[in-house]
Amino acid sequence: MYEQIERIRNILPPRVQNRVDAVLEAAEIFTEMKSASVMRSVAPSAIRGLLLKSGKFSETADMPANHSAHFNWAYPHDHPEMHALYERAKIGQWNGSSLPWNTSVDPFNPEVPIAPLDLIDLGAADKLGIKLTASEQPRMIHSMSSWMLSQFLHGEQGALLAAAQVTESVQFFDGKLYGSTQVVDEGRHVEVFHRYLNEKLCKMYPINDNLFVIIDALMTDSRWDMKFLGMQIMVEGLALGAFGFLYQNTKEPLLKELLKYVIQDEARHVHYGVLALKEHITEHLTPKERAEREDWAYEIALLMRNRFMAYEVYDEWYAGTSVTRDQWRQLVMQSPGMQRFRAIMLSRLVPNIREIGLLTPRMRPHYDQAGMGAYFNGLAAPELTGEQMIHDLDEGKIAA
Ligand SMILES: [Fe+2]
Ligand SMILES: [Fe+2]
Repeated sequence: MYEQIERIRNILPPRVQNRVDAVLEAAEIFTEMKSASVMRSVAPSAIRGLLLKSGKFSETADMPANHSAHFNWAYPHDHPEMHALYERAKIGQWNGSSLPWNTSVDPFNPEVPIAPLDLIDLGAADKLGIKLTASEQPRMIHSMSSWMLSQFLHGEQGALLAAAQVTESVQFFDGKLYGSTQVVDEGRHVEVFHRYLNEKLCKMYPINDNLFVIIDALMTDSRWDMKFLGMQIMVEGLALGAFGFLYQNTKEPLLKELLKYVIQDEARHVHYGVLALKEHITEHLTPKERAEREDWAYEIALLMRNRFMAYEVYDEWYAGTSVTRDQWRQLVMQSPGMQRFRAIMLSRLVPNIREIGLLTPRMRPHYDQAGMGAYFNGLAAPELTGEQMIHDLDEGKIAA
């Protein structure tokens, strides 16, 4: 059947071919997913994000929430480690307005790059038939940096609303107090990334469809632990790696300072997710429920690794031209900067999946086959504070 589709596709004009490709990519998700229960739980979000493009066609989105808000009138001190994180979070508060916003930023200056210049490999672009003139090259790097930071911003908005949800639904009272600090942290992250994009890069991209799918899936899931797994481990874990990558690679001092503060907050958030889930997953779930979470985490990791392809940049630059989505995907896959970006995202994520008990002997071969085996023994959030992470990034001990 695929050969027939391919034959029909090839006789269509490029503009229509690209639309067909986008629909086929959405359909591919369902053929790639091995677990029926994961497919069932993600399907409505995938339809909204990938087929209906709900993140792109409107400036607003309403996601129905149907979790329980859990109250406790006895106010117990029920989790000393979460309480310790709460104390650290209060001391670690900072004001986004106090960053050196008067720094002059020229996003087109290759001497002070916002992001590594090999995010798009110009040599590979040439070989793939994607021609970029000398004046287009710095514009393309600006587009890629703006795209990356835009996804950070949209992820932060997801984190802000999800942090509010998990604060409502978490069963530990110390978790609720800690969660209140995360809500403030995420609000500040939205503030600083939005201001940086708006004032310094002067460009913003819509949310990536796959990021929309993940956020939609966890916001609409009624199970509290799926919200924690989706936001605190998967999205925040990947974000922590992504921020570390950019922190280590940017030469722009304002962005570097901004990321230094954000990374220290995010390390606490992932730590909180690990504390909330570790005991729950290993001791309170049935084998079937646990297997579903193992599969879910793996499928989401793959989704982000395989599909975070900057198609929003493609749509702006090449939609309707002879450059196809497939050529663009190959370029993004081959560009060394994007390869390092994906590697460091996963290197921060996989150890936390292990720490909460989801990297089971059943799952290890799958991760191994997908090229993530190298991260099995990395440091998880409880072993790596934000301060230590910044120190290690500065010393080059964490490869990014
Ligand atoms: Fe954040
Ligand atoms: Fe966060």
